[in-house]
Amino acid sequence: MIIKNTLSSYGFVSKNFHWIMALIILFNFTLGYFMGDLDKGPLRFFIFNFHKSIGILVIVLIILRFLWRLVNLVPTPLSQNNLLNKLSKFVHYFFYFILLVVTFSGWTYSSARGGPFNVFGLFSVPALVEKNEEIGKIARDIHSISVYIFIAFVALHILATLYHHYFLKDKTLKRMWFGNSAD
Ligand code: HEM
Ligand code: HEM
Repeated sequence: MIIKNTLSSYGFVSKNFHWIMALIILFNFTLGYFMGDLDKGPLRFFIFNFHKSIGILVIVLIILRFLWRLVNLVPTPLSQNNLLNKLSKFVHYFFYFILLVVTFSGWTYSSARGGPFNVFGLFSVPALVEKNEEIGKIARDIHSISVYIFIAFVALHILATLYHHYFLKDKTLKRMWFGNSAD
């Protein structure tokens, strides 16, 4: 088991960051998408709080993942196409950026509407802004728009992966998957 990345493959830590975060984020997207339809009551409160708590966990994971990326090699792209390689690099960085926009706009919206909140029943996070309806509306719009932009990029990212796997038949997917397939 290789802990760190090499020039030919992702290591154990990056692979886990990638797949665990992908699952958590897509799960939280589904929660966010459906929770608005819930009737007012304890279940709605619980699901909203769970959605916000997962969002805070995502912020912590993004920061840790980015720091891990900084002290690591980034595997060399397998495609010879310079333009596509640049696009892929841009999309990877863009994910970090847009996820911060998604999470902090959600946190700002929640602060402007309800103030501080409890994370998984463990500790409280402070409000980022004072209660204010106008700010709440803007933050909510940013949260909604940015999360759909994010999902569009995830779709592009998945299509690019499938193109590599089935069309170019290279090891792009295998080297992000578990095992030593790329070494
Ligand atoms: C990975 C992180 C997150 C994802 C993928 C996500 C996703 C979503 C989605 C898809 C919606 C529905 C938007 C719409 O259809 O207009 C939503 C709404 C919402 N999100 Fe998030 N969110 C995340 C993080 C957060 C965070 C960190 C907070 C607060 C701390 C938060 C608070 C909210 C709130 C309060 C709503 C509004 C629900 C409503 O009024 O209907 N979200 N989120
Ligand atoms: C929430 C969803 C996802 C996010 C935010 C995401 C983000 C990223 C990021 C930032 C990288 C660059 C490496 C890194 O910094 O760790 C990456 C690489 C990769 N992702 Fe995703 N990803 C997601 C979902 C998926 C899915 C569903 C697939 C498979 C169909 C996938 C396949 C890959 C592959 C194969 C690589 C390696 C690319 C290369 O070697 O150039 N990702 N992803």
